[in-house]
Amino acid sequence: MNEEVFDDLMSSTDSALIVVTTAAENEQAGCLVGFHSQSSMSPAQYGFWLSKANHTYRMSLRSKHFAVHFLTTDDLAMAQRFGARSGEDVDKFRGLDVITTEQGVPLLTAVPNRIVVESITMLDDGGDHVSITARVISTETTGSFVPLRLSHLGDLPAGHDNAERAIHPSAGHRAPRQGGLTADG
Ligand SMILES: Cc1cc2nc3c(=O)[nH]c(=O)nc-3n(C[C@H](O)[C@H](O)[C@H](O)COP(=O)(O)O)c2cc1C
Repeated sequence: MNEEVFDDLMSSTDSALIVVTTAAENEQAGCLVGFHSQSSMSPAQYGFWLSKANHTYRMSLRSKHFAVHFLTTDDLAMAQRFGARSGEDVDKFRGLDVITTEQGVPLLTAVPNRIVVESITMLDDGGDHVSITARVISTETTGSFVPLRLSHLGDLPAGHDNAERAIHPSAGHRAPRQGGLTADG
């Protein structure tokens, strides 16, 4: 497999970017996400992938509800805030207007095109991200928008490198079970 060709193919798709937020036990988390898609029409479902290196991933292990914020070309600063720093080191929500849902999920007022979802499955298939598929429980929009895409970002170094994940496959990772997260992450 030629990784360079794979990278070129993937960057040619020029993904739209979202910010996924969540909360557990009064702690809020969120990160910039490029791996995501609608995954069912009826019922309406949405899927996204979280890096095992991220604070948001660790919080997702303790939460059921997430907000998916669809960024627009006006949201470059928001992408930088949620994509280039880790919630381990900074409070990414500080100074932002936030509404909290009844499930405790932080909604970013400045990013009004969004859905709130409830997770159905979390699957660790041995890659450096885990997939979360979720049922859409509420939707909000201000109308159509031009999405912020990978190509608008330039070279934004992520707050966490994927290689930082706690458990690495070469360190004896077991095959995942379908539909569930393996205990060894
Ligand atoms: C363009 C871009 C796309 C990204 N896509 C994802 C993604 O799909 N899933 C993910 O978990 N992290 C993704 N990240 C990385 C996180 O947003 C980043 O490491 C963030 O700082 C993690 O914050 P946290 O540790 O507070 O969760 C992406 C970063 C960038 C710059």
